[in-house]
Amino acid sequence: MLVLGLETSCDETAAALVERGRRVVSNAVASQHELHAEYGGVVPEIASRAHVERLMPVVRASMSEGGVTLSDVGAVAVGHRPGLIGSLLVGVAAAKALAWSLGVPLVGIDHVHAHLYAACLDTDREIEHPALGLVVSGGHTTLYRVDGPTRLTRLGATIDDAVGEAFDKAATILGLPYPGGPELDRLASDPAADPTRFDLPISRLGRDSLDFSFSGLKTAVLYSVCGVPRPKREGGGFPRSVGDLAEEDRRDLAAAFQLAAVRTLTLKLGRALERGGYRSVVAGGGVTANSLLRAELARLAAERRLPLHLPPMAYCTDNAAMIAGLAFPMLEAGETADLTLTPVPTTAC
Ligand code: KG4
Ligand code: ZN
Repeated sequence: MLVLGLETSCDETAAALVERGRRVVSNAVASQHELHAEYGGVVPEIASRAHVERLMPVVRASMSEGGVTLSDVGAVAVGHRPGLIGSLLVGVAAAKALAWSLGVPLVGIDHVHAHLYAACLDTDREIEHPALGLVVSGGHTTLYRVDGPTRLTRLGATIDDAVGEAFDKAATILGLPYPGGPELDRLASDPAADPTRFDLPISRLGRDSLDFSFSGLKTAVLYSVCGVPRPKREGGGFPRSVGDLAEEDRRDLAAAFQLAAVRTLTLKLGRALERGGYRSVVAGGGVTANSLLRAELARLAAERRLPLHLPPMAYCTDNAAMIAGLAFPMLEAGETADLTLTPVPTTAC
C-alpha cells in the first residue's frame, strides 16, 4: 500500500510517498530557512503562512517524483502532534481534505514517534525490542524504552534546552549562519580542530538521572567567546565579542562544544544501557545527522554488542517519509483517525 505523508509541524513543508512502511518512493521537502534566517529562529506566523502557500506544490512534487497520481494513494497520514499550532493546522486540514475526497483512511502521527521510525526507512532490518531510543532534535532530547513503533515509555528528557537548540545557539554565539547545527558540525569536523583545548562542562545531574541539561554548556561557550560579563557598576556588558576570536579559536571551541554535547548524550545512554534488558539502540531527529554523534553511537553500540539503528541522512531532519512510513504499522493495527482529528502542540509521550 502506498501512503501519502504530510509534515508541517515546524518550518519544513514536506510530502512523501512510502510503500508498505519501508520503501521511500518520493520525499519532497520545502525548507523555510531563508524566511526565518533574519530572525535567528522560527517565527510561527511566518511558518504557518508559508505552509499554506507551499503544501500543495510540495504534494504535487511528491507525486511527480514518484511517478504516481493521487488515485494510487491508499491512505493519507499527517503529523498532528507536537508542533506549532498554526503550522500543524495547515497539514491536518489538508490531510483531512485529501483523505475525504479520495475516500481513503486518515492516520494521525506523533512527530516524535515518527523520528524514531525513520530508522526503518529504506531498509529491511527490523528493530529488536525492547530498544533504547533517543530522539534528538531542535525541540526534543528524550530517552525512551521502545517496545514497538508507537509503544514508547519516557525514561528521561532535557530539563532546559533541547540539544539541537543548544547547537543552534552555540553556532550563533560563534558567528555561524542560521540554522547553525550543520554549520557547527562542519567547522568542528576540520581535521585540524582540537576539541580538548577548551574544557566545557558535561552535565551529569543526579547519579541515577537519565535527564539532560544543555543550558550550562551554552553559557560556557558564551563566556569562552565573550568573557565573563562585567558587573553593572563597571558598565556591564561583555569584555569581548566573537569578532575578537582567531579562526582557530572558533574552530576549537566548535569542536569542544560538539564533544561536550555528544558526551552528555552518550553518558545517559550508557547509564540506561547499564540497567540492562535492551536488545538494540535506535535514534532519530535532526541531531542524528551530526557526524560525531553518529560515530559515538556506533562505538557505544559496538562496545555493548547491540545492533544500532540510525536513519539515513535524508530522514534525520524533519521530513514526511517518516510520517508516511509509521502510518503503515498503524493502519495494520487499525489505528486510523477520522475527520475529528485535531492538531495538538504537545507530544503523546
Ligand atoms: O528534527 P528536526 O529537523 O526538527 C525538530 O523536530 O526540531 O531537527 C532540527 C535540529 C536543528 O536544531 C538543527 O540545527 C539540528 O537538528 N541539526 C544538527 C545537524 N543537522 C541538523 N545538529 C548538529 N549537527 C548536525 N549535523
Ligand atoms: Zn522533528
